[in-house]
Amino acid sequence: MNIALIGYGKMGKAIEEVAVSRGHKITLKIDEGNFEDFTSDNMQKAEVAIEFTGPGSAYSNISKCLEFGIPVVSGTTGWTERLGELKEKCAKIRGSFLYASNFSVGVNIFFEINTRLASLMANHKEYDVSLVEIHHTQKKDAPSGTAITLAEHILENVPRKKKWVNQKANEATELEIISERIDPAPGTHKVKYFSPIDEIEIIHTAHSRKGFAAGAVLAAEFIAGKEGIFAMKDVLGFE
Ligand SMILES: NC(=O)c1ccc[n+]([C@@H]2O[C@H](COP(=O)([O-])OP(=O)(O)OC[C@H]3O[C@@H](n4cnc5c(N)ncnc54)[C@H](OP(=O)(O)O)[C@@H]3O)[C@@H](O)[C@H]2O)c1
Repeated sequence: MNIALIGYGKMGKAIEEVAVSRGHKITLKIDEGNFEDFTSDNMQKAEVAIEFTGPGSAYSNISKCLEFGIPVVSGTTGWTERLGELKEKCAKIRGSFLYASNFSVGVNIFFEINTRLASLMANHKEYDVSLVEIHHTQKKDAPSGTAITLAEHILENVPRKKKWVNQKANEATELEIISERIDPAPGTHKVKYFSPIDEIEIIHTAHSRKGFAAGAVLAAEFIAGKEGIFAMKDVLGFE
C-alpha cells in the first residue's frame, strides 16, 4: 500500500518504520519544512494518508486529504472540538476518515474496561472517581486526548459526574483529570474509584510509541478502499 505521512516528527518516523516493515511504501512525507509539497497531485500517489502533526494544523490537514479524495487516519490530539465538522464533511463528500485519540491496541482494550467499570459504578454513589495522565514534557496539549476519551466515557455512564476539569475538583459533580509532565514518559493513564472503604484503580502504561504507530498502520490498512467514518473499535472488531 502507498502511504502519505502528514507530519514527520516522533510519530511520523515511528509509523514509517512499522509501515515499511509491513511491506508498505511511503510516497510522501510532509512537515512544516516542505508544506508546499502537500498538493493534490503528490497525494494522488497515495492510497491512504496518516496525519500526526499538532493541534493547530490537524483540522486543515485532514480537510485537505478529504478534499483530495484520499482516505485519512489521524491521531493528532488537542483540537477535537472540530471533529464533528470533519465527520460531516467526510460524510458529505463520501470520503473515508478514522480518528483515534489513542491507536494502541492495549489502550483501546483499556477504553472498553473503563466504560464497563463506569457503568458498574453508575449507582454506587459512595465511590468518587478521578483520572491521572502522565506524559513527556514536550507534549503540547493537556489533558491528553486519551484522558479526554476516558473522561467522556465516564461522564456518559456515571450520572453524578457532569463535566471534566483539568485540575483538582472543587465540586462533587466535577471529574478531576490531573496532568503530570515528566521525562521520559510515552504515556500513562490511571482511573481510580475510591470510597471510605476501598478503592479500585485501572492503569495503562505505554512502554514506547511503537504501539501507537502499529495501531495507526493497522487503521490505515483497514480504511484504504473503504468509504465512511470509522473508529479503532471497527479496526479491532469490538462490538
Ligand atoms: N493518537 C495517538 O495514538 C497518539 C500517540 C502519540 C502522539 N499523538 C499525537 O500526535 C501528534 C504528533 O505527535 P509527535 O510526537 O509526532 O509530535 P512531533 O514530534 O512534534 O511531530 C509533529 C510533526 O508535525 C509536523 N507539523 C507541525 N505543524 C505542521 C503543519 N502545519 N503541517 C504539516 N506538518 C506539521 C512537524 O513538522 P516540523 O518538525 O517541521 O515542525 C513534525 O514533523 C500530537 O498531537 C500527539 O499528541 C497521538
